[in-house]
Amino acid sequence: MPKPIRLAVKDFLSSLDISREEVFHILEIAKNFKNNDLNFELKNKVLGLIFDKSSTRTRVSFQVAMSRLGGTSIDLNPTTSQIGRGEPIKDTARVLSRYCDVLAVRTFNQSDLEEYAKWSSKPVINALTDLEHPCQALADFMTIKEEFFDFKNVVLSFIGDGNNVANSLILCGALLEVEVRIACPVGYEPNSLIINKAKKIYKNNSLLKITNDPYKAVSGANVLYTDVWSSMGEENKKLEKDKEFNGFTIDSDLVDKADNDAIVLHCLPAYRSKEITDEVIESKNSRIFEQSENRLHVQQALLSCLIS
Ligand code: CP
Ligand code: NVA
Repeated sequence: MPKPIRLAVKDFLSSLDISREEVFHILEIAKNFKNNDLNFELKNKVLGLIFDKSSTRTRVSFQVAMSRLGGTSIDLNPTTSQIGRGEPIKDTARVLSRYCDVLAVRTFNQSDLEEYAKWSSKPVINALTDLEHPCQALADFMTIKEEFFDFKNVVLSFIGDGNNVANSLILCGALLEVEVRIACPVGYEPNSLIINKAKKIYKNNSLLKITNDPYKAVSGANVLYTDVWSSMGEENKKLEKDKEFNGFTIDSDLVDKADNDAIVLHCLPAYRSKEITDEVIESKNSRIFEQSENRLHVQQALLSCLIS
């Protein structure tokens, strides 16, 4: 059985902090954890969770991952710690990294996450920022690999907002040389810096396609993916975005235009009948709950490769 190998970098702040080989290694370790084929412990190690935004899956899967590894976790609620009072990140990071062995941070600005990493003596993991959701992308590609065995000829179509989830799919997709098509309404395309970074990584950069036509994006695709139209922090844009995204719902009609064996993914939580219909979530094409489960296995692998 393969043993977790330490990553080259201290922190996991972006999908691009790890190499293509490291992505494959994490997915392999995750598969072994999932199949109960790997006995590996992080006994007595402590994970600190700092969540400035709500979370169900990321929070709980990290806690369970740490518990399965024989370690423990501390969930720091900003309102009951000094974080919400505005204690500087550089102070919080220096203090917490003297107690904890690794920190997982969910916050708004990528620069705040980078500030944690700069001042923390221990690894810092991106548990979602406005820019990226790299742990999610690892679970997504694990789910795709389970279905299609490898990434050759897989076409992944993301229909919706060019947000954090789309950005990490693009970057991780570039590392894995997967064809990624993004369909967004005009003005909601992914960040151009992300697109440019991805295009530099792809050997064949025509594999990344950005369009405003969801039907064009899903034609013959193997994986259809969506996320909420308004992310956390965009609550005041909900009404406007609901109108702008009209026509970008993953419904049975759109699924019919994809490959016959296409699967459907959603990072969750979902707004049924907005970005995806109830029928599609509950359909035979859906691998959404397998995808959620895989958050646990990839994070168990990631923790093992960061602090082993
Ligand atoms: N997909 C995801 O990150 O879910 P949570 O917001 O519940 O953690
Ligand atoms: N794009 C969503 C993802 C939630 C997991 C958000 O940032 O709210």
